[in-house]
Amino acid sequence: MSETVNIIELCAKSDIPEGEVIRVDKGELELAVYNVEGQFYVTDDACTHGPGSLSEGYLEGHVIECDFHNGCFDIRNGEVVAPPCMIPMRTYKVLPHETSVVIEAPKPE
Ligand code: FES
Repeated sequence: MSETVNIIELCAKSDIPEGEVIRVDKGELELAVYNVEGQFYVTDDACTHGPGSLSEGYLEGHVIECDFHNGCFDIRNGEVVAPPCMIPMRTYKVLPHETSVVIEAPKPE
């Protein structure tokens, strides 16, 4: 395990129905946690375009649509897939765990 990352347990997998996204706050982190067909993904909750909260957006497959101006991101890699967003969003590595969503996050400086 690297010394530059924190291992953080976010929630139970059962907290998120398939095809849904929830917001989880942990310390400084405000995160959106997604369940796509039993696979879990984690991104920042804040849209890179403005005040939108991605956990309040619309999830279709691996694409989250911000409900503020309808920009879209791929939750697997954070890439922008529809304007007006231009800046990719941060994604987090989800670690294998039987019952919980656990991520690797950089330690705050
Ligand atoms: S705030 Fe998300 S698309 Fe503008």
